[in-house]
Amino acid sequence: MDTAPAPFVPPAPTPRTSPPSFLEMIRIVYRNPLELWGEPSYTKPWVSVSGVGGPLVIANDPGLIRHVLVDNARNYRMSTVRQKILRPILRDGLLTAEGEVWRRSRRAMAPVFTPRHIAGFAPAMLRCAEAFVDRYDHAPAIFDIARDMTMLTYEILAETLFSGEIAGSPGGFAKQVDHLFETMGRVDPLDLLRAPDWLPRISRLRGRRTLAYFRRLVAETIAMREARLKQGDDVPEDFLTLLLRAEGPDGLTRAEIEDNLITFIGAGHETTARALGWTLYCLAEAPWEREPIEREIDGVLSREPDPAKWLDAMPMTRAAFEEAMRLYPPAPSINREPIETDTYKDLTLVKGATVLAMPWTIHRHRGLWDRPEAFMPERFHPQNRERIDRYQYLPFGAGPRVCIGAAFAMQEAVIALAVLMSRLRFDTVAETKPWPVQKLTTQPQGGLPMKVSRR
Ligand code: HEM
Repeated sequence: MDTAPAPFVPPAPTPRTSPPSFLEMIRIVYRNPLELWGEPSYTKPWVSVSGVGGPLVIANDPGLIRHVLVDNARNYRMSTVRQKILRPILRDGLLTAEGEVWRRSRRAMAPVFTPRHIAGFAPAMLRCAEAFVDRYDHAPAIFDIARDMTMLTYEILAETLFSGEIAGSPGGFAKQVDHLFETMGRVDPLDLLRAPDWLPRISRLRGRRTLAYFRRLVAETIAMREARLKQGDDVPEDFLTLLLRAEGPDGLTRAEIEDNLITFIGAGHETTARALGWTLYCLAEAPWEREPIEREIDGVLSREPDPAKWLDAMPMTRAAFEEAMRLYPPAPSINREPIETDTYKDLTLVKGATVLAMPWTIHRHRGLWDRPEAFMPERFHPQNRERIDRYQYLPFGAGPRVCIGAAFAMQEAVIALAVLMSRLRFDTVAETKPWPVQKLTTQPQGGLPMKVSRR
């Protein structure tokens, strides 16, 4: 008789069975776009509708996704709605740049994200995670794990890409970034309606002051490092130095360097933090999955001191993280817009349409996954992996604009999980009732209050 417990099914909105009214739709878009999608978005290869802001295509078919993001990527730019949200914050940073600026910038930054370079970050990642564990010295107690993971990943980012030399206090800086995305990073109903830019987006006005403060800190960070470079100091060869050395006619402008500091601080920690939080939550609700992972971690830690090797040495830990990113993709929506009208099979993608390749619906698609709503890390175990199509699992996107930090994030996540789970145990309590909400990233509404105890 099979005694394996039924898999844990974590909370998520149920697909809508009828479309919302216009007003309801505006309200949902503002509150939580994840609640917008109906049955067809989770069952059909694509859904083509005429939305309030023009034609909209929800792309779920891996072939179609490959067509848009890879094979015919040249015909697609970032969608207008996404750019309206992000460009005022990130300007010409890598995430929002297009055309020649994007190509030049991606080339300039690539050296920091080579496998060799990323392996070099492992000791700093380990140091940060080990120091972080000390904050739980009065465990057992209840902590907000969502907030804690943001602090941990911010510290790792600051220590690796910036060698700890970011202006302002660490906690303050991380909080400002959160506030910035909280206020400015929402889909404003006016953007969806493609209202003219001169109409003020109330949702974003509150973020303006934070943005100005943030830009001042970035300018200060650059000035501090420049002063050291001018003095001929022995400066760290990190991301910040690389960007400053790339300044010039064939490299980056001063404004682009600033934009990229904001971009990498913004894109480089919150996403990983969300995925770590959801992983610890799912594992706490499925202790039968957690136990073998704890054993795997204990075993590797006892024989392999080099943290750069842990990602490959811990397939079960990695699989749990990947499965949590399937259920709660930190970047729930990848948006594009055809530059010229395009076709795929019998689908027409008209010029200017919004094409949504949403990890949220693709990862929960009933035609692509068995029991898509359930937390089943074994899907990602090495022997099962090849059953997953490259374009049905997109936590980091695909094609030329694939996440530049993907390998960084995977290494960081496994090191963080190994250190945290080898020393501590995270359990849910009565107040742990997260509800996934899309605010740029997939966040747990209400945070993740969890009981942390020593193992
Ligand atoms: C679990 C963690 C992460 C997730 C799920 C994630 C997800 C993504 C996704 C889906 C994209 C593609 C967006 C699109 O095609 O429209 C992207 C792009 C990007 N990511 Fe990440 N990311 C993560 C971590 C990081 C880290 C650690 C960094 C930096 C250190 C980073 C920096 C960027 C940048 C700069 C881009 C823009 C790349 C380009 O357009 O050329 N991300 N990320």
